Amino acid sequence: MAAREDYIAVFDSGLGGISVLRHLRRLMPGERYLYFGDSANAPYGSRSTAEVRALTLAAAEKLMARKPLKALVLACNTATAAAVKDLRSRYPELIVIGIEPALKVAADHYPGGRIGVMATEVTLREEKFDTLLLRFHENCSVAKIPMPGLVQLVEAGKTESQEMDALLRSLLAPHVGKLDAVVLGCTHYPLAAKAISRVLGENVVLLDGGEGTARETRRRLLGAGLLEEGQGELVLENSKNDPEMIRRAYELLTEREG
Ligand code: DGL
Repeated sequence: MAAREDYIAVFDSGLGGISVLRHLRRLMPGERYLYFGDSANAPYGSRSTAEVRALTLAAAEKLMARKPLKALVLACNTATAAAVKDLRSRYPELIVIGIEPALKVAADHYPGGRIGVMATEVTLREEKFDTLLLRFHENCSVAKIPMPGLVQLVEAGKTESQEMDALLRSLLAPHVGKLDAVVLGCTHYPLAAKAISRVLGENVVLLDGGEGTARETRRRLLGAGLLEEGQGELVLENSKNDPEMIRRAYELLTEREG
């Protein structure tokens, strides 16, 4: 049986999930968080679905053994698309929260609008995204925008760099001036939001699923009587045996929380 004082595990292929963790901590500061980024195996987004599933299941197993958990937040659209169903059937007692591109929010706010969805190749090709698209394609026009190379630059600490600007300019060139809003459908991308806005223009609204995921986590914990309002705790771990990754994770967390 899960207890209120148990941990909420937050998982991503690397540093991206920090963009979700900041919403979780803002909404539920009294919780204990165990964040694990699998940077040694990132990027997930260009792998086969079977590989992403296997890496996600292995990470979940490790997290379950690491601390007593009451919830697992998949702070990764790619891992959610590939493995959320398997995780729910493997751990029926655990609250498992996934994240998906915030297309509903975009369609609600921009009826008839032109919406871009930036996400990884895995997310954009999985059935889960097609289902989402089917629900909203009549309300707005949707452009799928894969962003190869972006995750690697965020992982390397180059969110504000000439390389980032050059990559964004080349990948987003066909869409500049043609979109009302862009859904950041990969948790790494909000960490590069400033650079993305510079290229798309400040008038293009950027939306992501971080806040909605945090709210859903709170709702589920509250419903299960598992919401903790204690001192709060944060454990940050990364599969790359490099203290620099932990330093970078803290930096991203506090930069965005400030
Ligand atoms: N952060 C992950 C997501 O939300 C993917 C990053 C990767 O490709 O590893 O989709």
